[in-house]
Amino acid sequence: MTVALEQGVVAVVTGGARGIGLAVAQRLLGNGVKVACLDRPDADYSAVQSAASSYGVECAILRADVRDQTAVRQVVLTATEIGPVRYAVNCAGIDGLAPSDQVTGAEWKRVVDVDLDGVFFACQAEHEAMRGAGGSIVNIASMSGHIVNRGVDPHVAYGAAKAGVIHLSKGLGVEWAREGVRVNSVSPGYVHTELTAHNAPEVNATFARQTPMGRMAQVDEIADPVLFLLGTGAAFITATDLRVDGGFTAW
Ligand SMILES: NC(=O)c1ccc[n+]([C@@H]2O[C@H](COP(=O)([O-])OP(=O)(O)OC[C@H]3O[C@@H](n4cnc5c(N)ncnc54)[C@H](O)[C@@H]3O)[C@@H](O)[C@H]2O)c1
Repeated sequence: MTVALEQGVVAVVTGGARGIGLAVAQRLLGNGVKVACLDRPDADYSAVQSAASSYGVECAILRADVRDQTAVRQVVLTATEIGPVRYAVNCAGIDGLAPSDQVTGAEWKRVVDVDLDGVFFACQAEHEAMRGAGGSIVNIASMSGHIVNRGVDPHVAYGAAKAGVIHLSKGLGVEWAREGVRVNSVSPGYVHTELTAHNAPEVNATFARQTPMGRMAQVDEIADPVLFLLGTGAAFITATDLRVDGGFTAW
């Protein structure tokens, strides 16, 4: 795919050590964009590091927990050491399955802290790192921010946080529009990643059956639309959500 991205600039990718974030980071590196990969302090960064060295493009490792506003700001501002920050993709996220009458305050907070607060803290820091020069941010929400998933254990905190990410992206997109920072979200359907790999095979088979296209997505099928939204092909797109769900939310 040809994407119109600026070369030699930096993209901050949270949750970039694996899954959708890693696929996004690999695609960016392959297009000559430097990557500042922010993930858990104990994450395994070897896949993004090896992609960077095989493409010969610089990569910075930013170790932080997205729930920690101060730490996120500190590490994201260091990304400018390898170049100007122009792009950001916020993928760090977790799930949390439990019937609502059993969800403790701590469990609710665990999910919302990562999936909503963490995205906000990252956007705040990335906007600051862009230093008034403009840029483009894509937040990974979920179709679960639009619909309630059928046939899986309830995960109301996750859905509420993802609905929050969709609205957060709209709000920031409007707030920062006049200064040239676009903010959009992508809402994936079911995707093959470590997050879904632990599901029983019949659960993933149900996901595939429920999807009009009859299958789950591969990570690159999420990464490519993300790169489109980041690039100049989407220059007039801000404050919107793009569903990449194989038609799931249409029926
Ligand atoms: N896989 C799917 O079917 C699916 C569907 C819709 C949306 N999503 C969303 O896509 C995003 C990526 O999911 P994935 O499937 O690639 O998951 P994944 O578990 O493979 O990757 C998530 C990454 O986020 C990082 N992370 C988690 N908590 C963190 C924290 N507190 N601080 C820093 N980093 C943290 C993890 O270390 C990991 O590298 C998530 O936001 C998820 O909700 C996934």
